Amino acid sequence: MTDTLTILGLESSCDDTGAAVVRHTPGAPPEILSNVIMGQDALHAAFGGVVPELAARAHVEKLDLAVEQALDAAGVGLDRIDAVAVTAGPGLIGGVLSGVMCAKGIAAGASLPLIGVNHLAGHALTPRLTDGLEFPYLMLLVSGGHCQFLLVNGPEKFTRLGGTIDDAPGEAFDKTARLLGLTQPGGPAVEAAAKSGDVKRFVFPRPMLDRPGCDLSFSGLKTAVLRTRDALVRDQGGLFAQDRADLCAGFQAAVADVLTEKTRRALTLYLESQPSHPALAVAGGVAANQYLRSALSELAEAHGVRFTAPPLALCTDNAAMIAWAGLERYRAGGRDDMTLAARPRWPLDTHSPALLGSGKKGPKS
Ligand code: KG4
Ligand code: ZN
Repeated sequence: MTDTLTILGLESSCDDTGAAVVRHTPGAPPEILSNVIMGQDALHAAFGGVVPELAARAHVEKLDLAVEQALDAAGVGLDRIDAVAVTAGPGLIGGVLSGVMCAKGIAAGASLPLIGVNHLAGHALTPRLTDGLEFPYLMLLVSGGHCQFLLVNGPEKFTRLGGTIDDAPGEAFDKTARLLGLTQPGGPAVEAAAKSGDVKRFVFPRPMLDRPGCDLSFSGLKTAVLRTRDALVRDQGGLFAQDRADLCAGFQAAVADVLTEKTRRALTLYLESQPSHPALAVAGGVAANQYLRSALSELAEAHGVRFTAPPLALCTDNAAMIAWAGLERYRAGGRDDMTLAARPRWPLDTHSPALLGSGKKGPKS
């Protein structure tokens, strides 16, 4: 028997329908044989955010096609797949359910093992897929629905050191974009506008920096952007392109400052417990932000810590990370059966107290 594993992964927890095939032989780097992603931006554009019902229906329509394309692009049939991994939560329940049902159908039809994957584990294990990072490491997971510091000790061993008490940073980017009339998802639009902005013109608050610990808050920041926008509109009769750029630059700098300072604190805690393995990784959609990546990279360098950030396509939701997290679980003996349930909430660390707040994916996990 060979130790090489080839896993089909499915992702449908928010507004991206994904299917991917990942292969790994111990001792060699993992290979992403295919990574198909079908976004739904156009579908939700008129509503200014993700509409869960529309998202779920689109997943049902697209999942089969995504799987077919992923197998074709990988040049493998189901007979060459060792197991089917699927996001089983946390996320928008209709979408998660669509993926779980599709995966169950494939697993039953092709007599393959089924592996339920926590979407957050998919993000948190990505540095192992992309950079071969060994356990343990400190992970800053920043996305549209989540924000947490995790001590990652194994494929299913996570300890949360802190997280947001209200909005996730991606959500704050999306809301800021909406306030300024920019396109969704807001992160890339705000980052692009900020490039020609003056970071010093609007200095927004840095929430929670005056409080000890690694918890964060982002809801006050979007209110500050709203007030500043309204004052500009009142005084000038409208917003000019330069105003938008300056607002975006000020907002992005505030988010990056807060995340960097809290990461410094989390890193101090992490290094106290793991001095012999200094490693920091960032993942999730907001990790695609170059301004934040540079700030974190500088922080890591100043502390003599290895820093990894996935390529942009593997920061935002994708199925390769689900296939990989499934592969790690499968190799560690994890298996599910036809009773696998779709879970809207699914905290990675079940020992730490639950965080408050609710994001676009429903309650924070
Ligand atoms: O990880 P992801 O695809 O979905 C969740 O699991 O939530 O993250 C999506 C979030 C969105 O809020 C989006 O605006 C944000 O990531 N995002 C960014 C950037 N690219 C995507 N935020 C800031 N800068 C970016 N370049
Ligand atoms: Zn995600």
